[in-house]
This record gives sequence, structure tokens and C-alpha cells, in this order.
Amino acid sequence: MEVIIQPSPREVCALAARITATLVRSKPGAVLGLATGGTPRPMYAELVRLHRSENLDFKRVSTFNLDEYVGLGPDHPCSYHKFMAENFFDHVNIPPSQIHIPDGLASDVAAFCQDYEAAIRSAGGIDLQILGIGEEGHIGFNEPSSSLSSRTRIKTLTQKTLDANKRFFAPGEAVPRHVITMGVGTIMEAKRCLLLACGQTKASAVSKMVEGPVTAMAPASALQFHPTAIVIVDDAAASHLALVDYYRSVYRNKPDWQRYD
Ligand code: PGA
Repeated sequence: MEVIIQPSPREVCALAARITATLVRSKPGAVLGLATGGTPRPMYAELVRLHRSENLDFKRVSTFNLDEYVGLGPDHPCSYHKFMAENFFDHVNIPPSQIHIPDGLASDVAAFCQDYEAAIRSAGGIDLQILGIGEEGHIGFNEPSSSLSSRTRIKTLTQKTLDANKRFFAPGEAVPRHVITMGVGTIMEAKRCLLLACGQTKASAVSKMVEGPVTAMAPASALQFHPTAIVIVDDAAASHLALVDYYRSVYRNKPDWQRYD
């Protein structure tokens, strides 16, 4: 795993946007795996800025989102369809037919999940998967105890995740308990993974992911087996890492040809 420590969430997201933009420029038909949540929001804003001011062209890009709440339709203000429209898709030129987000209203969830996996395969697989991390180490909505070879399926959220995501919902409105999420195995097939984490509340999960044993109790730790996983964190999220000085020196001393900027 490559661990890159940045001073603030703004720099975390700026670097993530640069890596994504470099891919889209070198491979205009890239397949992006996308994440929602508070962490990547500034990354989308930066990609929109690059689209508007530097002609970053998304017309051949396809996207697959990690997850969606079961029971929320695309117009629900807290659905991930809505999040993606507001933060990204309404502001760039990805044709709607190339956008894929799990359908929270699917009547046959199992069949939908199989079709989602098939659609990823027929697009040629995901070139770059953007990820966040939960306080208990989930990626996508693969909560602790998720199979590390799981595929797209329905999951039940932990109380911790329900509590963490309450902030996006209206006061008194319940966070849906069930979600459709890509599995850990699905995520691991992406050619590159790019995980972003910011803030003290993520420090413990980040250290378990990077330095802990690989365990279903911290599903993000499966990324230790991924050949090209990049983890970009701010100082606060890096604060529990034992090898923090080493990661900083690796990044500082990276050969020019390996740099992202
Ligand atoms: P957050 O969510 O970016 O809103 O912290 C991340 C996650 O739960 O995966």
C-alpha cells in the first residue's frame, strides 16, 4: 500500500482529483468506481473545476458507484443518486447511459446485484476505484465481518454507521438499515484503488487498514492484498500510524517519474 499524508482534507482531495484527471486524460474511456460521503465531496468539486477550466473531458468515461440505500429512490435528497447528481454528474459531461449506481428500489435485489457485477465486467472492469473508510473499517458498505471475497449484495448497516450517517438525514428521519454495496471482492478487482480518509475519527480505522492484520473485522485491511492501493490521508487520520515518518519519507523521496504532480 502507498500511504500519502497531506496537511489537510483540501490537499487530500486535490491530489485525488489530480490522479483521477491524469487517468482520464491518458485513457479517455476510463471506468471509474465512485464513492459518496463527506470525504470525497471536495474531490468532485475539483474535478468539476478541471472540467470547466481545463477541458477535462468525461464524455467517454463510465462510472460505477459503490453503494446505495435500499428503499431510497433517485430523487430522495439523501440517496446516493442525488448526492452524485448534485456533486458531480450534473456538472460534467458523462452521458447518463454510462453512469451506474445501485438501484435502491430494485424489486429483485439478488438479480440486480448479479446484473451490476455483469455490467462492471462488460465495461472491462474498473480502472480506478475511489474509496472512503468507515470508523470501523468498512469500504463501500462492507461492514465488519463482511466476507473478504464478497460480491455486490445487500448488507445491513451497523449502529455505528447508522449514527455516523444520521447527519445527512433530516432530524427524526431514520437512516435506512439496508444497502446494496459492491463486495470486497468486487472492489479488489479494480485495477487501482484510491482510498481517502480525513479527520481524527478515522485514525484508528486507517491504522488497522494499513498496519493491522488482514481481517474481516476491518474489511479495508483486504487492500493490503491489492497490488496498487493508494491511501491518501490528512495529518489527523494518519495520527495512529506507527510508520508515519517512513510514509512521509517515501513520498518525499519518490522518483520524479513516479510522482502524481
Ligand atoms: P464519510 O464516509 O466520507 O462521510 O466519512 C466514508 C464511509 O463511510 O465510507
